[in-house]
Amino acid sequence: MRTQVGIVGAGPAGLLLSHLLHLRGIASIVLEARSRDYVEHRIRAGVLEHVVEQLLIETGVGANMQAAGLPHEGIILRFGGRDHRIDFRALTGKHVTVYSQHLLVRDLIAARLAAGGTILFEADAVSLHDIDTAQPRIRYRQAGIEHELICDVIAGCDGFHGISRPAIEPHLRIFERDYPFGWLGILADAPPSSAELVYASHDRGFALLSMRSPTVSRLYLQCAPDEDLDAWSDDRIWAELQTRFSREGGFTLQEGRITQKGITPMRSFVAEPMQHGRLFLAGDSAHIVPPTGAKGLNLAAGDVAVLARAVEAFYRRGQTALLDAYSATCLDRVWKVQRFSWWMTSMLHRFAAHGDFERRVQLAELAYVTSSAAAATSLAENYVGLKLPV
Ligand code: FAD
Ligand code: DHB
Repeated sequence: MRTQVGIVGAGPAGLLLSHLLHLRGIASIVLEARSRDYVEHRIRAGVLEHVVEQLLIETGVGANMQAAGLPHEGIILRFGGRDHRIDFRALTGKHVTVYSQHLLVRDLIAARLAAGGTILFEADAVSLHDIDTAQPRIRYRQAGIEHELICDVIAGCDGFHGISRPAIEPHLRIFERDYPFGWLGILADAPPSSAELVYASHDRGFALLSMRSPTVSRLYLQCAPDEDLDAWSDDRIWAELQTRFSREGGFTLQEGRITQKGITPMRSFVAEPMQHGRLFLAGDSAHIVPPTGAKGLNLAAGDVAVLARAVEAFYRRGQTALLDAYSATCLDRVWKVQRFSWWMTSMLHRFAAHGDFERRVQLAELAYVTSSAAAATSLAENYVGLKLPV
């Protein structure tokens, strides 16, 4: 088989890239190891930056998000038993939208298939070849049979555990940091207890109140990185969440049936450069952020917007300058987002190594961020999303 751009992975990065290329008249084939049903039900992120929302609307895949997404004009930082609101609308004129990643994946798959696009599900990419040539190849296995996809360009959109980044490992410099905690996340049939997301920094650890719809809550609590999920009965989870979200004057955390439970490790990771030869890494295959800033999915969208423009210049005008600059263009934004995600994580979580002094500094930082217009604006402009370099 032959195509122009071979895309490994049908997560948000791979699917959005395939869509953006199609709009520019460029053919692609997406290879996805999992089934369509699996990727359409995988529960992950939920917050879309303003710029990403605009990109989806402008490129014709925003209708369901506009109908079912929940626009949020601010967030609450809860600490010392009190609420402090960061007002995105007043500080930046922008908002974010809460819309499940798996629904976005569904929308993108539907758009690609409706446009006659090819996504091969249960097609496991096993190796990449001739990346240093003008005709790189992807070997993949589907239903026990090995096939080969010949392309001009390969996009490695296969997430943190894919094969693309390892294929160029000797050429990469890795920057990483593991955090001494994880997040235990649940989905519950309970109406959201707050109209806006609540980021709570409690002496027992961080907790986050988010939502998916008017009847479904998404909640997270800081836990040990190697936490045993079996040690967390539903009752224990609710009791811990009730404690961490407590507030002066009382706060009612609505409880309900827990329909999904999982533990997310916390990691900062960047591989540089995000390209080698004709292979371009995008999304989680190139970088991971801790989820506190709600940035993983948004970074993936930013990468592929840059890559689609560069691939277009390559085909339309035979220019490789934008492709050559792909990694540098992305990394500028990636590192700013790394900084924000690391900062939010450091400010809001309890660290076992911290003493009373560090805790007081954290609380002073939270008090500063929520009382200074300059500091609040900085948080807000990062949260709603820095502009895309396209
Ligand atoms: P992925 O979504 O990981 O997609 C990669 C795709 O490639 C997958 O479908 C995978 O099956 C496929 N693949 C892998 N290897 C191969 C292969 N060899 N051949 C073919 N296909 C392959 N971010 C937030 O901002 N907030 C959150 O709350 C949040 N929660 C998360 C919870 C979890 C459990 C995880 C893992 C991530 C979470 N993230 C969160 C991060 C966010 O979901 C990711 O940043 C986002 O999914 C990145 O998109 P991607 O397309 O780059 O990668
Ligand atoms: C969600 C996840 C995040 O990491 C975050 O910072 C905000 C919201 C969510 O899943 O809704």
